[in-house]
Amino acid sequence: MAELGVNVDHVATVREARKTYEPDPVWAAAAAELGGADAITIHLREDRRHIQERDLRLLQETTSVRLNLEMACEPQVLAIALDVRPAQVTLVPEKREEVTTEGGLDVAGNADHVAKYVTQLKEAGIFVSLFIDPDEPQVEASAQMGADAVELHTGQYALADDHGVAAELGRLHQASLAINQTSMRLHAGHGLNYKNVQPVAQLPSMFELNIGHSIIARAIFVGLTAAVREMKHLIS
Ligand code: PXP
Repeated sequence: MAELGVNVDHVATVREARKTYEPDPVWAAAAAELGGADAITIHLREDRRHIQERDLRLLQETTSVRLNLEMACEPQVLAIALDVRPAQVTLVPEKREEVTTEGGLDVAGNADHVAKYVTQLKEAGIFVSLFIDPDEPQVEASAQMGADAVELHTGQYALADDHGVAAELGRLHQASLAINQTSMRLHAGHGLNYKNVQPVAQLPSMFELNIGHSIIARAIFVGLTAAVREMKHLIS
């Protein structure tokens, strides 16, 4: 059964809307753990629009499950990651003007640059995952630079209409097979929700799904622990 990483950035987004202390993503992480989260995922963005350095440091101390830090290949956040040493880092592309992460990291096109980050993080004992589009050249480049895992970007699958969804799932399936030929672990995420998660959870050797928006949206009505429990149930 795939593990579930719950992304609590959206809780911090609500807090930052008022620049106050509530709701606290650290509390959210505890509630998510109670619901069965296998990992807590946060993205420390360069513009600090939601998660703050304080959240990262407190979560590193308080979560009892894996902490997965999403970050761009950028020197200042690398220094923070090497200082805090979360169990896992997922390298993602980042643009200031985007609402959320829009595409995968171009590992094949920026191999030298990305490899420097992978190497330094791995030397610090951190498990490194790369967030990529489901394309075989990206899988190959990730394996060549020694990534521990790749997270397939499921955004196109999530956005596909009834006619396009089978093709997008096919792309994810092909990429999964390519990943399974390597020693890398298979992760997936972005745009997954209670309606579309199951085919992705069933991809061969799926290890970890990272889900944020949909779980936090449901949590407004049913509470976070229940929302996580429902998602875990669907994945299993
Ligand atoms: N995985 C990665 C790499 C992401 O950047 C995000 C969005 O922060 C997610 C998963 C979760 O996406 P969503 O909020 O759409 O579930």
